[in-house]
Amino acid sequence: MINSIEKEKELAAKEAIKFINNNQIVGLGTGSTAAYAIKGIGELVKNGLKIKAIPTSNRTKEMAILLNIPLIDINTIDSIDVSIDGADEFDSKLNLIKGGGGALLREKIVASLTKELIIIVDSTKKVDTLGKFKLPIEVIPFASNYVLKKVQFLNGEGKIRMLGDTEFITDEGNYIIDVDFGLISDPIYLSSKLNEIEGIVSHGLFIKLARKVIMGNNDTTISFES
Ligand code: 5RP
Repeated sequence: MINSIEKEKELAAKEAIKFINNNQIVGLGTGSTAAYAIKGIGELVKNGLKIKAIPTSNRTKEMAILLNIPLIDINTIDSIDVSIDGADEFDSKLNLIKGGGGALLREKIVASLTKELIIIVDSTKKVDTLGKFKLPIEVIPFASNYVLKKVQFLNGEGKIRMLGDTEFITDEGNYIIDVDFGLISDPIYLSSKLNEIEGIVSHGLFIKLARKVIMGNNDTTISFES
């Protein structure tokens, strides 16, 4: 039987795909919640919806191909109409922590190109202040130790993400370090400080990118808009 958190993810995804229209370019997120949306989009395509999609990870790309969702090269377009993606946390200003699945770099690029970014989450993802979830930071392997030391000056304690005995490698061939900053009272400031550190390719603070968060809440959904 599907548990209540899975139900909330599915409900949020079903609500979000209603915002997709014919002939749009659609960004496809990564993660277990985004997977419900991709499945739903696959059904819509099967029933005649005409879109072109841009996946945010290799695994999302594989899923889209299996579902016959037409893809388009991101380097051939100027903007994306709507993207649907998950998040690890969101606050009342719709700032996000993303990257739990390790796809934050492509996700942020897709989000930055998107006119309407819709985030879909279950009810465990809503927080008053970001930071309980450790912040994923994508670093080039050469700089991983340097970045671990630099984030300590920002009161962050980081660890390289592992997959068994080896480092987790992102789709772009980088490492992820997961950093505990404690509660992040000023995400805009932290984001700008992280952007200054050499070797960081991207980090999981998504500031002012989400237009809408759709949260599954028991048997229904709640929408938050920016
Ligand atoms: C992947 C992400 C995901 O959107 C985030 O981790 C949420 O995943 P899930 O829907 O499985 O909880 O940012 O990089």
